[in-house]
Amino acid sequence: MTEEVQDVAISIQGLTRDFGNFTAVSDISLDLPRGEIIGFLGPNGAGKSTTMKMVAGLIKPSEGKVFFRKNGELVELNRSNRDAIFRDVGFLIENPDFYSHMTPRQILTYFAELKGYPRKEIKKRVEDVVKLVDMDEWLDKKIKTFSKGMRQKIGLVSALVHDPSILILDEPQTGLDPKARKEVREILMKLKSMGKTIFLSSHLLYEVSEISDKIAIINHGQLVAFDTVEKLEAKMKKSLLQIELREQPENIDEMIETISKIIKPIVGELNGKDIVHYNYNLKVFEVLFDGNTENKHKILDTMMAKGLKISEFSVPRTNLLESLYIGLMENGS
Ligand SMILES: Nc1ncnc2c1ncn2[C@@H]1O[C@H](COP(=O)(O)OP(=O)(O)O)[C@@H](O)[C@H]1O
Ligand SMILES: [Mg+2]
Repeated sequence: MTEEVQDVAISIQGLTRDFGNFTAVSDISLDLPRGEIIGFLGPNGAGKSTTMKMVAGLIKPSEGKVFFRKNGELVELNRSNRDAIFRDVGFLIENPDFYSHMTPRQILTYFAELKGYPRKEIKKRVEDVVKLVDMDEWLDKKIKTFSKGMRQKIGLVSALVHDPSILILDEPQTGLDPKARKEVREILMKLKSMGKTIFLSSHLLYEVSEISDKIAIINHGQLVAFDTVEKLEAKMKKSLLQIELREQPENIDEMIETISKIIKPIVGELNGKDIVHYNYNLKVFEVLFDGNTENKHKILDTMMAKGLKISEFSVPRTNLLESLYIGLMENGS
């Protein structure tokens, strides 16, 4: 076994899911490192939940495989080993819909039993995990009296009550107020410090960028980036150059190709995604580059040499990662 394999908690290999003629998830491959938080970021409808449901064995992939780490080896998930593998995995997929007349103690005890947590220890475990989310006073209160944030925290706790080392959480912060979101973020950090691997989806960049070690960006079912936050930002150093033209040029495609050729050696491939984008309506080129002044001049010189009439250019001072995310989304659409 290679060292690399030892460090992988989940290996997603070529996952694809079609719904009729529509491909919701297309050939996604990701190795999730152990003990890290991996943010799974993409706009609504990008394919996050569908991917996570395939990882959870809830829907069948059209193609591809999922491997989980078990006893030091990566084992392909299948029907017969699913229960055994999932004893060490916790899921929160979409909005948890609990029986509202039940209490957290009843629900969590049920989940712990279901996942085979040692019976004698369940009572204490349930009390401990509820403390973890600061809800011990609510342990025996009916869920129907809970706020959305409280329900979500109980949902989170139900995913981890059996103490799994891997957590797969689909938008655990969505729909929560800022205070509850912050609480969830702190709980996730605490879980990471306990050594858990967390695969965490969100459609909001800031929900994952602060706590994730790595971020996978998905759009239209395709993976458009997968790297550490630092590397994604480093690639984007000062990043976005916006060049407004006076006239609509004729040879846009050729121009995009020429600029791309100059830029690619500088910023590298972004998983094959275009780093030059042209907005026809605004007559604006958007070029992702490394922020180097010399390279900025190179880009502008090339455009002028090609006869483009530039009316204005700027490097907007937006959040680096934000502009990367937006850039990737626009290029993918
Ligand atoms: N059961 C289904 N049947 C048909 N289309 C679906 C089904 N589930 C999801 N989709 C479609 O697949 C795409 C991805 O959905 P989803 O994975 O829920 O995205 P996300 O979680 O990123 O918002 C969407 O266009 C959605 O409408
Ligand atoms: Mg979703």
